[in-house]
Amino acid sequence: MLQIIKSNVATGLALVASLTLTAAFAESDASTPYMGIVGGRIGTNIQKEREEVIKRSKPGNPVAGKEKSQLCQGCHGEFGISTNSLIPKLAGQYGGYISKQVRNYQSGTRTHQIMSAMAATVSDDDLADIAAYFAALSKMQGDGSADNKFGKKLFSNNDSTKMGLACINCHGEKGKGLEPPISAFPVLGGQHKGYIRQQLLMFREGSRTNCPNGIMNRMAGSLTDTEIESLAEYVSAQ
Ligand code: HEC
Ligand code: HEC
Repeated sequence: MLQIIKSNVATGLALVASLTLTAAFAESDASTPYMGIVGGRIGTNIQKEREEVIKRSKPGNPVAGKEKSQLCQGCHGEFGISTNSLIPKLAGQYGGYISKQVRNYQSGTRTHQIMSAMAATVSDDDLADIAAYFAALSKMQGDGSADNKFGKKLFSNNDSTKMGLACINCHGEKGKGLEPPISAFPVLGGQHKGYIRQQLLMFREGSRTNCPNGIMNRMAGSLTDTEIESLAEYVSAQ
């Protein structure tokens, strides 16, 4: 029940924020197509937010993408926040990463019964805009409730993983992405715990192999079940 209330409140806030920002941008710069749909935090530095959003969404047009992504919104949420924990949130994910994944589903480098079929419906022309729509939304956020110290240590300290390389090096502070952003390294902070756990298990067992140079297969290959659980709990709460 609490969960339902929380998610309704979040949706409501995103809507209010997006309307507020629409008004703000309509006044300040009506020529920028990006800004009409951005669900953002009210009262933050709008100029900075705008620059960030443009970086995340390039090269597509999020306004066009909003219409084109109706089908996708059915599962991934109108504001990119899915409710099923095995369906990833896409809000604020990098456009480049979203496009790459859809192309991987299309070519069969990444497979999933549902998503492979969904990806087949997307044309090359539409993909960049759809990706830009989700990228332009306020970044996914966890509820901060899980404070998994072991997961945090594994995520952040190079000497705590058997690989000698911590997640933070590629996925950024709290999994929020690198600064400046590199779209090859997806945002993980605030993603569903169930989805993070499942992907790490798939990388480890080798049923997901679309990561460049098998980086994630090697990273996950050295993790135990307990470590995967702790990492998923820590990063999903951010
Ligand atoms: C019927 C539900 C459903 C619909 C509709 C759907 N998806 Fe998905 N999507 C999923 C599921 C489930 C996954 C996780 C698949 C996996 O584990 O590989 C996923 C994964 C993804 C991912 C990978 C995200 C990541 O973090 O790696 C992207 C990108 C994506 N979907 C984009 C889209 C786009 C674009 C559309 C519209 C054309 C779409 N999806 C429509 C269910 C759906
Ligand atoms: C050297 C860079 C690097 C390091 C270190 C790294 N990753 Fe990744 N990770 C990547 C790349 C690149 C991808 C995207 C793979 C693709 O294109 O499909 C990825 C993808 C993922 C995904 C899938 C996200 C999604 O939305 O589907 C998860 C989960 C993940 N990493 C978790 C971790 C964790 C946990 C660690 C630390 C144990 C870690 N990564 C360390 C580079 C890295």
